[in-house]
Amino acid sequence: MGCEKKWIFVLAVMMFSFCWYNMRSITWHPSLVFRCNSQPTIDYVNSSSQFDLLKQDFLHRPIIDYVRSSPQFDLLKQDFLHRMLYEKPNVLSPPRSDVLMMTPWLAPIVWNGTYNIDILNTQFHQKNVSIGITVFAIKKYTVFIKTFIETAEKFFMVGHKVNYYVFTDRVGDIPNITLGEGRQLVILEVPSYKRWQEVSMRRMEMIRDHARQRFVNEVDYLVCVDVDMRFSDDVGVEILSHSFGTLHPGFYAASRTRFTYERRQQSTAYIPTDEGDFYYAGGYFGGTVEEVYKLTNFCHNAMMTDKGNNIEAIWHDESYLNKYFLYHKPTKILSPEYLWDNNAGVPAFLKRRRFVAVPKNHNAIRNKRALQAYSRNKQKFHS
Ligand SMILES: *[C@@H]1O[C@H](CO)[C@@H](O)[C@H](O)[C@H]1NC(C)=O
Ligand SMILES: *[C@@H]1O[C@H](CO)[C@@H](O)[C@H](O)[C@H]1NC(C)=O
Ligand SMILES: *[C@@H]1O[C@H](CO)[C@@H](O)[C@H](O)[C@H]1NC(C)=O
Repeated sequence: MGCEKKWIFVLAVMMFSFCWYNMRSITWHPSLVFRCNSQPTIDYVNSSSQFDLLKQDFLHRPIIDYVRSSPQFDLLKQDFLHRMLYEKPNVLSPPRSDVLMMTPWLAPIVWNGTYNIDILNTQFHQKNVSIGITVFAIKKYTVFIKTFIETAEKFFMVGHKVNYYVFTDRVGDIPNITLGEGRQLVILEVPSYKRWQEVSMRRMEMIRDHARQRFVNEVDYLVCVDVDMRFSDDVGVEILSHSFGTLHPGFYAASRTRFTYERRQQSTAYIPTDEGDFYYAGGYFGGTVEEVYKLTNFCHNAMMTDKGNNIEAIWHDESYLNKYFLYHKPTKILSPEYLWDNNAGVPAFLKRRRFVAVPKNHNAIRNKRALQAYSRNKQKFHS
């Protein structure tokens, strides 16, 4: 009996020590105390893990992380506008009455006369923004680069930091162009694809991959456009937003049923005839690097799903983009001033033509999108 009691006592002491040791380690282990506090801020700055967060909505990040990132609060001290003179906004007299200036989800539609570029430039200069513009000069499309960049130097984001990201399979064909201060040309060599549909669709994948690997470290916003175009009037920071799309010049006035969305249910790009806000152009979209990553990732994955099922959406990348914007509505929309084809004439509401299709002078290079825009709408333009 006495022996048994002694063993029970020893066992009890051992269990107590074991528990105490473990609890002690939980309470005092340093990583447990500090991990919750500092890691989210570091994650956000670190580019590679930043994209892991993309699956979640950024709004869901705990408020404590936001409060803790003190540099943000230091910036607030300088974040005010100096004295500026301009006409007072008039509540009962909107600047434009001939066009829609706001979507039902309160995203502005950008038209001339609806914004003050001086206010916007001051705001964006304070944020020290840099803008990346991506174009694809694949195969013979390298002929468009010179005009594209030369006109961009005159009209695109003048006074701001700009990186031209030129994706090409013919590096040697990219001309030497002298750029303004704070602007640089980055040539990104990429493989070519045989079919132009494939060339067009693979752009989503290439933008996505470079957004994650490179753009996120170099620029704040991305503007993704077609190369067979030229700037013919100002395109500035008024276009920048979380995510933006552009009204297709052929469909701004069309009814839902006339939008050339993908109508086959087997495709991931399918949109039923009783849905849809606008028909967005495949050749002009953008936003923050994170948002463009999400957009291009969605479009590329949707395309790959369709490819696996032997189906390709009717207007290729444009169809997937329209599907994305239907359910992830853009926070700003560019009017057709920002994407126009002069073959379509100049309607009265179009005060400026800022970015227009370059007329083709030989058949080997056809402007797929502008041609589509024009031929798809010839009837309307000429009736
Ligand atoms: C564009 O809008 C500005 C005001 O922001 C106005 O002064 C200018 O006349 C407009 N341009 C045209 C061509 O209507
Ligand atoms: C503005 O951004 C550039 C990088 O794009 C950086 O080198 C520069 O230090 C920044 N300037 C200020 C005042 O933050
Ligand atoms: C491009 O132009 C710059 C000066 O304008 C010159 O220094 C450079 O050597 C040129 N590069 C090529 C590849 O022609």
